[in-house]
Parts: sequence; C-alpha cells; structure tokens
Amino acid sequence: PVIRREDYAPFPWLLPRVTFDFSLGLEKTRISSRLEVVRNPDAPASPVLDLHGDGLMPLEVKVDGEVINSWVMAGDNLRISLPGEAHLVEVVTEIDPSANSQLMGLYASNGMLCTQCEAEGFRRITFFPDRPDVLSTYTVRMRGDKAQFPVLLANGNCVASGENQDGSHWAEWHDPWPKPSYLFALVAGDLVSRKDRFTTMNGRDVDLAIWVREGDLDRTGHAMESLKKAMKWDEETFGREYDLDLFNVVAVSDFNMGAMENKGLNIFNTKYVLAEADTATDGDYEAIEGVIGHEYFHNWSGNRITCRDWFQLSLKEGFTVLRDQLFSQDMGSEPVKRIEDVRVLRSIQFPEDSGPLAHPIRPDSYREISNFYTATVYNKGAEVIRMMRTMAGEERFRKGTDLYFARHDGEAATCEDFVKAIEDGTGLDLRQFRLWYSQAGTPKIIVRQEQDGDTVRLRLTQKVPTTPGQPDKQPMPVPLRIALFDPATEEHRGEELIVLRDTEQSFDFPGYDEAPIISINRGFSAPVSIERDIAREDLVFLAAKDDDPFARYEAMQDLVVSHLVEALRGELSAEDRTKGRAAILQAFTAVLEDSALDDLMRGELMILPSQTYLAEQLDISDPQAIHREREGLKTWLAQQCEALLEALHDRAAGGPYRRDAAARGLRKMRAQTLIYLAAGAPEKAAKMAAAQYHAADNMTDRQSALIALAGLDVPEREEVLQAFYKRYQGNALAIDKWFAIQAQSLHPRALDHVKALADHPDFTLKNPNRVRSLYMAFAANPQAFHAADGEGYRMIADCILALDPINPQTAARFVPPLGRWRRTEPERAALMRAELERIAAAPQLSRDTFEQVSRSLG
Ligand code: ARG
Ligand code: ZN
Repeated sequence: PVIRREDYAPFPWLLPRVTFDFSLGLEKTRISSRLEVVRNPDAPASPVLDLHGDGLMPLEVKVDGEVINSWVMAGDNLRISLPGEAHLVEVVTEIDPSANSQLMGLYASNGMLCTQCEAEGFRRITFFPDRPDVLSTYTVRMRGDKAQFPVLLANGNCVASGENQDGSHWAEWHDPWPKPSYLFALVAGDLVSRKDRFTTMNGRDVDLAIWVREGDLDRTGHAMESLKKAMKWDEETFGREYDLDLFNVVAVSDFNMGAMENKGLNIFNTKYVLAEADTATDGDYEAIEGVIGHEYFHNWSGNRITCRDWFQLSLKEGFTVLRDQLFSQDMGSEPVKRIEDVRVLRSIQFPEDSGPLAHPIRPDSYREISNFYTATVYNKGAEVIRMMRTMAGEERFRKGTDLYFARHDGEAATCEDFVKAIEDGTGLDLRQFRLWYSQAGTPKIIVRQEQDGDTVRLRLTQKVPTTPGQPDKQPMPVPLRIALFDPATEEHRGEELIVLRDTEQSFDFPGYDEAPIISINRGFSAPVSIERDIAREDLVFLAAKDDDPFARYEAMQDLVVSHLVEALRGELSAEDRTKGRAAILQAFTAVLEDSALDDLMRGELMILPSQTYLAEQLDISDPQAIHREREGLKTWLAQQCEALLEALHDRAAGGPYRRDAAARGLRKMRAQTLIYLAAGAPEKAAKMAAAQYHAADNMTDRQSALIALAGLDVPEREEVLQAFYKRYQGNALAIDKWFAIQAQSLHPRALDHVKALADHPDFTLKNPNRVRSLYMAFAANPQAFHAADGEGYRMIADCILALDPINPQTAARFVPPLGRWRRTEPERAALMRAELERIAAAPQLSRDTFEQVSRSLG
C-alpha cells in the first residue's frame, strides 16, 4: 500500500512509560514488554489499540494483569480491544537474532547482539506503536550469559546491575528523555572501550566511551577526538549542550547504513569509527569526523526534537547534514569541504532529481520509507536550509535555530514548524521559499548579460523541470551570491546577494563602462544549475583570479564541462577543439604552477567533472562516449604537462607520516598526479606507483598507488594487488578497499575481474560493506557497468535478485543505476529496461525493491 503525507492522523493512545525485559540469546531472545497506555486527548477515541509488528507472534498478552485471548492479528499488527481510559498492556515475543539477515531490529553480528530500529525496525523486536510521534520514557532490563555478553548497553544511564547464580548477569538502563521507538538501542557482546570525558558548558561531566572488538582499540583515537570536538563545536556554534551523563558509541561490522543516532548509544558502521595511518586514508579520517559529528548533532536535531512522521525526515536529516558540513568546514578547509559537498550533490543528487526516482525533500508518498534515505532528503535538504542561512546571515540564522530549539524541544515536529521558526526568528519572509520543500527537480537558471550605457543588466530566467507526479512548477526564490570583476583592474566592488524570485527577472548594476566578468552562484549559494554564454577567456580569468575559491573551482569545471559537452554533441570543429583544449591547458597549468595555492585546493581544482555530472548535461547520453571524451582530455592534459606533473609528484615524496593540512595536501598531489600520469604516460606511472606503494608508510599513499595501477595492463598491477591483499588479509575495511579499487578500475577487463571477485572466498552477500565494495563500486564504473552487450547491467540485476531475500534494504539501493535508462542511448536503454523488467517479474520481491523497480520503469 502507498502511504500518503496528507493522511497523517495522531495515534489514539499515549504511552508515557514503557518497560522492556530482554532475555538475550543469539538464537533466541525473549522480550517482555509493559506498556502504560492512556487515551490521547488530542485524537479521536478508538476502541482498539493497534501495535505494529513485523514477522512476530505474541506468546502472551495481558491487559491490566490478566491474560487475554481476545487479541487478533490485523495483518502483521496486534490488535487489542481496550475499553477504558488507561490500561497496562503486557506482551511477550520471541525472536531469533541470528536469522535476521536484514539487519533491521535486533540482530547478531560477529557473536554480539545489536539493534537498528530506524525507521521501522522496532516492530521486528516487539509489538509497539512504531511511529516517530509516540514518545515514551524507556526502562530496559536485560539478562544474558556473562561470558558471551560481558557488556550490556542500552539508551540512557545504567541504574542497576548484578549477577545470577547460573552464570548470567543483568543490567537495568533508564533513559530519562522521552523518545520514539526508532531511537531505541541495545548492545550485548564481548567489547572493550576507549574512555574519555567531556565537561559541558554548564559543567556537566559526561563519560564518553567508544566500544569495539578487542584488537580494534588502537584504532579509536580519532573517533574520540572527533566526538569531543563535535560536542564543543555544537555548544559554540548552535548553543547546544549534551544532556546525559553518558555517551556511548559502538562499532559494528554488519550495518546497512553509516551510523545511527540512538539516544546516548550511537551505533556505527566500523567504517566510520576505526582509523589509523596504516589502514585508513585521509578521506576515511574526514568521513569519520563528519559522521561522528552528524550522529552527535542529531541529539538535538533529531532526538530532543524528532519528526512527526517519516515524510518529515529532512527536518532532522537535512538540518543535521548542514550542521555536520559546517562542523567539518570549521575543522578543516572551508572551501575544500564546500567543493567536496557540491561534488557529491552534483554527482548523486542531481541525477536523482532528474530521473524516475525524483522526489521533493519532503516526499508526498512512499511504499517503503527506507527508500527515502536519499541524497535528496539528506544533501539537497541541507542545501535548502543553507539557503535560508545565506539569506538571513549567520547571526540572524542563529536566532532562528535558537527559536526552533526552544519552541519545539520535546516535540515531534514538521518541516513546516522548522520553516516557521526560522521565519519568526530571522524576520525573513519565507512564504514562497516553502516551494523548495514541495517541488522536486533541480532548477535551471539561464543567465544573459547585457550592457546598456554604463549599466550592466543581468537577465535571469528560471526553469523548474517537470518531475514524476509534478508536471507544473512554480518559480522558487534562488539566492545567488555574485561579484562583477572589472577586466582592467581584475577586481570587483564587493560581493552582493541577489534573489531571483520570478520566472524571468532583470537585475541592473550601474556604473560599469566596460562589461564586467561575472562570477555567479559563488560558494554554490543555491542548488541549481547555471547555463550561460560566457567567453572562454573569461572562464580562464575566473579560474585563475576569482577571490572566492569555490568560484575558481567552478570556472575551471565550466571550462571543461562546456568543452566536453560540445564535443559530445558533435558541435566541436577541429579548430574549436584545439582552442578549447588550449584554454583548458592554460587554466590547468596555472593551477599546477600557482605557488600561492595550497595543495588540498590544487588537488580539487585538478579533478575533472564526474562522468555522471557530464551525463546530466545531456538529454540522452552514451556512457562510452562520455568516458572516451573525458579520458581523452585527461590523457592529453597529462601528456602536455608530463614534466610538471612528475615534478609535483616528486615534490610530494618523502617525510614521515603526519596528518596536518600540508602533509595531506602532498598526499593528495601524489594521488592526483598519478591519476593523470596513468593516463598520459602509463609505463612511467606504473613504475612511480609501484615505488610509491612500497615506500609508503600510510594507507592514503598505498591506496592512490593501487588505484593508478589497477587500471593499467602492466606487470606491477598484479604484484601490488597481491602485496596489498597479503598485508591486509583479515582486516575487513582494508579488504573492502581492495575489492572496490578493482571493481571501479578503468582496466579494460574490469568486468571479468568483478566476476572473479564475486567468487573470492572473502566475498559474501551477507555483509553490506563487502557487497557495496564490489557492486556499488562496479555500478559507478562507467565503462564496465555500461558494457555494450549489457553484461554489466545483468550483473547488477543478478546481485539485486540474490540480495533481495537476504537484505532488501541494501538490495534496493542497487536499483537507481539501472533506473537511468531513459537518459541513456537507446540500445543500452533497452538492455537496462529489460533487466528492470526481469527483476520486476521475480516472485516474492521485497517491498523495498519492488517500489524502486516499479518507479524506475515508471
Ligand atoms: N538516521 C541515520 C543517520 O543518518 C540513518 C539511519 C537510516 N537507517 C535506515 N535503516 N534507513 O544518520
Ligand atoms: Zn542522520
């Protein structure tokens, strides 16, 4: 059935206090619940209490202390008649965590027990109103074998514990903060912890602990430092203080997503906790800091104020992503972080927004909410809130968020509540702005520049594209930071913010005798695509001279994108090709030679626009042609700059491992120069990469060497691949990299490699990280995935069909790459479509995969 946002109705009952008793076992866990139920005065009265369940049968049901037999199953749910105003309901269920391969609810992972309840996993543990607007105070008792489960954790504080005669022990946890069931968590296992302390701004001493398997303890230092930084930053930036005496983080190797913000007991994919120089790249360190921050920040944006229903998911996710992005910007390089975030948005969210799965950041309907944990809800959601911040300015925005936190603390709120609070707190008029919540699709802004005497006139047009279910669109407010450069002085007179509100609107700037060079959407102030006629020389100028580093990056990208798109449209004469390449080379050389640039920024400027972003620029694209053009340009640039690139690589060599920005910049240079040289001078690059690999004292350098080698047909390839495997055998996260690098490589036989790797003894469909490391990487490999005979599509479809019965949530995440068929050239489109149809025809398809496949076939 389809669930609709407009159908929201409050739950007829309140459950102020609930108690759960867990008798733990890997194969058999028994759960006894005690639910204090009273009528909800704000909802129409109901004669029954419906409790969600998923695959459960009650072993016993009591009302007010008496066993009853009048309960019925309404589908998966338990229905109990309740005549009065207030009752005590008790239910016993039993589950087998070891059989839970979906990794939702309570499941076993490497001999430990853990939970994932967002969005609707709690109903796989026990019967409960498993919806985010039912808030309860939880008491959790658990008992289990002491040798098997020496550590027993749940939300809140441990209030009592003890031992039994039979070798078991128990603990009682109490969480004083009312919460919905999706924030429930429980962990039992043989774990060790790194402990630390944090004193909050008002003097609360908080015990911090990061729990991992023995042997992983040395790899938790960075996560702990990140956590303390996040706690401090949230106090300083948003005035948010932690509210319990304890904060636990547990790392689990079988996990569907990145991490989960359960109250006082965050549960993480090991990928976002464990790091040391030998096993983690600079990118891994940054991701850990970001995700630790993200989950911690949810304590206010998500837990203290939660969501009324799942259509409001972006209320907590969009806001929390913005908060983690701002945190990472403050901890490292602001422009580099901004560029990375925009790159993710453009290469993942833009395609989502222009394809069959497009949805507004606040969706209107769904079948399976797990399918809406998307780049749109998360990343575009963050961009939408960032626009409000840009329009209000930092200080006024803070007044808005202060008001939001004060007004809705303890509530299950809506996106509308958030916008209203920002409106009231900042004084902005956000009436038209609300369209960003309801309309899907990436607006396209067409810019025309005219000169009228000494006045520059910018004529802006916006088009919000048609998306599934939304044929007619209204213009939205688009805040654009702009600067007008005087070509003579190479300076501008100060940045301005203009807000485009209409379908067509002009902005006049008097006092320019000569046409200025315009830098627009600086800092990516709006999540839109810009189309404009700008001279190549002007882009070269902006790429070299713009004082906004993001705008510099943007000009560089524009230069390359417009050239490649013209080439792909067949609009490029031989002469244009020569001129276009010359302009790109000029800008590229300036980037390589600019001694004022730090290397982290230089590395960003060197990265060519992604395959998916290029495909976005074309109505119908041929993946192989995009790949060929993009690689062709890369090869040509590398050949033109071979000596420069080699010198950059050498400058970066040597010195012991450090993690400061300068050292990270040098590693980024080594990675980028190898990528180019592998294209332009493969034999030389192979030697350099092999030498780099063997000399390396850290994972970043090893990985970048391996990436360069994996795409080449050279003897060093096999040798280094084997060395890597031998060195890291048994280290799951490092072996994930080994799979992913091969699956994503530009090697002409990458498809065969992936086929062979699927039979590797270390491959398993049961571990989401491993599945993603092989097949997500493969689906992102433009030439292998899009093999002309459809073999790549077949492999992904086979993977989906094999994975669906094991882990539907993860299986459904492989559908979107096939869903791009409408925008792909006709022969491949037919092959992609045929695979979607083959999946759709499979019996017993999960709700998750069914929804994604049917939307993709549209
Ligand atoms: N709330 C978590 C996070 O962003 C994500 C959990 C999603 N889990 C899921 N099964 N869909 O931070
Ligand atoms: Zn989140």
